[in-house]
Amino acid sequence: MTASSLLEEISDVGRDPKRGGYSRHAFDAAEIELRAWFVERAGRLGLGVETDRNGNIWAWWGTPGPDAVVTGSHLDSVPGGGAFDGPLGVASALDAVEILQNKGFRPAKPFAVVVFAEEEGGRFGVPCLGSRLLTGTIDADKARGLRDPDGVTFAEAAAKSGLDPERVGRDSERLGLIGRFLELHVEQGRGLIDLGSPIAVGNTVIAHGRWRFSFQGQGNHAGATLIGDRRDPMIPAAETVLAVRKLAKATSDARATVGRLVPVPGGTNVIASTVDLWLDARVPGTATPELVAEIAKLAEEAAGQEGCRVEVTRESYSDDVIFDDALRRDLGTWLGGPPELPTGAGHDAAILAGFVPSGMLYVRNPTGISHSPEEFSEADDVDHGARALADILEKLST
Ligand code: GLV
Ligand code: MN
Ligand code: MN
Ligand code: MN
Repeated sequence: MTASSLLEEISDVGRDPKRGGYSRHAFDAAEIELRAWFVERAGRLGLGVETDRNGNIWAWWGTPGPDAVVTGSHLDSVPGGGAFDGPLGVASALDAVEILQNKGFRPAKPFAVVVFAEEEGGRFGVPCLGSRLLTGTIDADKARGLRDPDGVTFAEAAAKSGLDPERVGRDSERLGLIGRFLELHVEQGRGLIDLGSPIAVGNTVIAHGRWRFSFQGQGNHAGATLIGDRRDPMIPAAETVLAVRKLAKATSDARATVGRLVPVPGGTNVIASTVDLWLDARVPGTATPELVAEIAKLAEEAAGQEGCRVEVTRESYSDDVIFDDALRRDLGTWLGGPPELPTGAGHDAAILAGFVPSGMLYVRNPTGISHSPEEFSEADDVDHGARALADILEKLST
C-alpha cells in the first residue's frame, strides 16, 4: 500500500473532537490501536516484529544484526496535533519496504523499521522518551518517575502495557545494531514551499528544552479577597508569559513558547493556589540556558512582588545537532541535489545522531503549519517521499 493510503487507513484513530486534529499519547487507547495497526501491517510484509524494553517497536526485514539500516519515526502526537508528524515517517517506511520487495530486492544488511515511543512527550513531558531511553540519554529512574497529568507514572503505564519497568533504560545491545538511522518527516515550516521543492535533506536541529515554572500563592475567594490582600500566582505567571516573548525577541533566532499553563484548582471564582506553566525554549548554539535563566530571574521578581514563590525545574534539554556529514552528502547525491534545511523541531533522529550516523528527509507541507490540525502534505508528495526513501534504503542496505 502507498504511504498516502496507509495514512488514510489510520485517519480515524485518535481524533480529538474537543481540540480538533489528533491526540495520540503513549499507551493510550489511540496509540495502542496504532501500535496494533503497525504490527499488523508489518506482519503482512513478512517483517519480524518485537517491542523493545523501552516500548519502541522494531520490525525486522530478515534477521536482526549489526550495521543495520534502520528507518522510522513515531505514531504519537501532540495534543490536538496533525495527521503527519510521526505517522508520515512510519507509513513511508512501510511503503518503502513494499516497493523494494515488489521489485525483488533483498537487503544485504540487516534492515528494520522502528516506531519510537512518546516522541512528543505529550503524556509524560519529556520528548523523544523512547529514543532517549534506548540511548541512555535520560536516566532510567527519572523516566520511571515521570508523571502524566493524571499522576500516573511512566513505570505504571509501561507495566500496564506489558513492559517490565525495571528493565527500561539504556539498551546498548540494540543500539549497537544500528548502522545508520534515517527518519522521514513532514516539514514543519515553509522551507520547501518557498524553495519549490517536494523534499529536503535535514542538516541541523537547534538546541531545545522544556522547563516547568511552578508558582505558589494563596488560594482564596474571588469576591471576598481585596486586591491588596491577594497572593495570586496567576499574576507572576502572566508576567512571565510576557517576559518570555520580550526576552526571546531580544535574542537572535530564539524561539520561546508557553503553550501550557495550569491553574489549580482552576475555578472561575477562585484565586488559584498554584499555577504551573511550561516553557519551551530553543536557541541555536549554547544560548538557551542563558535565555531561560533571564526568564527565571524575571519570574522570581514578579513572584516576590505578589508574595508568591516560584520553583523552576528543567524537564529536558538537548544540544544543537548536526546530522552525519557523509550520510547527508550521500542523500543529497542520491536525490539529485535537493535543498538542505535546518529545523527548530526535535526528532528521534537528533537523539540517535549522538550515537550513530543519522539523517533526515523532510516532505513538503503546503500549509507550513505543524503541531496543529492544519499540518498537511499532498498525497503526491507523500508518495514521492516514500519512493525516494525506498531508493535510499536500497542503496544503504546493498
Ligand atoms: C517535537 O516535535 C518538538 O520539536 O517539540
Ligand atoms: Mn512533533
Ligand atoms: Mn515528529
Ligand atoms: Mn518531534
